[in-house]
Amino acid sequence: MQRVIIDCDPGIDDALALMLALSSPELEIVGITTVSGNVSADLGGRNAKKVLRQMKRLDIPVYIGEMKPLKVPYTDASDTHGRDGLGESFLPEVQGDFPGISAVDFLEGALDEEELSVIALGPMTNLARLFQKRPDLIRRIPRFVSMGGSFRSHGNCSPVAEYNYWCDPQGAEVCYDCAARAGKIIEMVGLDVTRKIVLTPSLLSYMERLDPETGSFIRRITRFYMDFHWEQERIIGCVINDPLAVAYFIDPSLCGGFDAFLTVAGEGVCRGQTVVDSMNFWKKEPNSRVLADADVKRFLRMFLSRLIPGAGDLAYLEQLYRMEY
Ligand code: BDR
Ligand code: CA
Repeated sequence: MQRVIIDCDPGIDDALALMLALSSPELEIVGITTVSGNVSADLGGRNAKKVLRQMKRLDIPVYIGEMKPLKVPYTDASDTHGRDGLGESFLPEVQGDFPGISAVDFLEGALDEEELSVIALGPMTNLARLFQKRPDLIRRIPRFVSMGGSFRSHGNCSPVAEYNYWCDPQGAEVCYDCAARAGKIIEMVGLDVTRKIVLTPSLLSYMERLDPETGSFIRRITRFYMDFHWEQERIIGCVINDPLAVAYFIDPSLCGGFDAFLTVAGEGVCRGQTVVDSMNFWKKEPNSRVLADADVKRFLRMFLSRLIPGAGDLAYLEQLYRMEY
């Protein structure tokens, strides 16, 4: 059992990633921290609680994090995730207050106390603020997995940039810089691999047939996201980025990649672009593991079977797979 903190901006795919993490016996979630990204950090916190209620895990604390990126003005992604961040499902609020400490203070205290891994599913503002104050704490993070960036793939909010790193490019840069100084590796689950993960209408129907309760919750929060994908990219279904970061954390053999030095462009037309020195021009020690391949079928099997018991039937998945790919 690995003890982890999940830093996120729920967000439709963050919600699915939290559901996967909460259904995985390998993980013990010590706390969830939210950051302004898809929606503001406080709205994200309320959404995290809606997911925890759905999963009957309201015992897990949610800490509200940074409201704004380090330097650039904040731009949300409500065009993608809906005004409420959960696909305009407008699920009822969960009553009750948040703990009285900020996400950054929680991260500092928790890491001072014990080594904890981090799965970052949003812009890395909270972690950057932590490392600006306490760069030493990166050494207390055995595994640091970040969904963000892209190596060869085009961006999803500019020709070259992925949203999380575009939203707070200096935040991402501070984290990779801190990793470089400490001799640590951040495992980058970028668009090269997450673009392959598409939740299709057939997969959704399959989930709903087997478990109407969970399936209809997922349908409710993904409808808007599916419409967005059709209008924006002519994709039937939706790319679910964040669950792959959780699945890869649990089973690193799901993705292949390489180690390299990486930095993030801060301004101008390249804002948020990950500059990966894959040819080692700069002769610097790697500070990242850049994922380039993913075993989509094995991911789907893990994702489906954990969210919906009985949905990991390989024969049926093979049939669906043949129909769809
Ligand atoms: C990332 O940006 C957000 O919109 C998603 O939640 C994901 O973390 C994909 O670029
Ligand atoms: Ca996210």
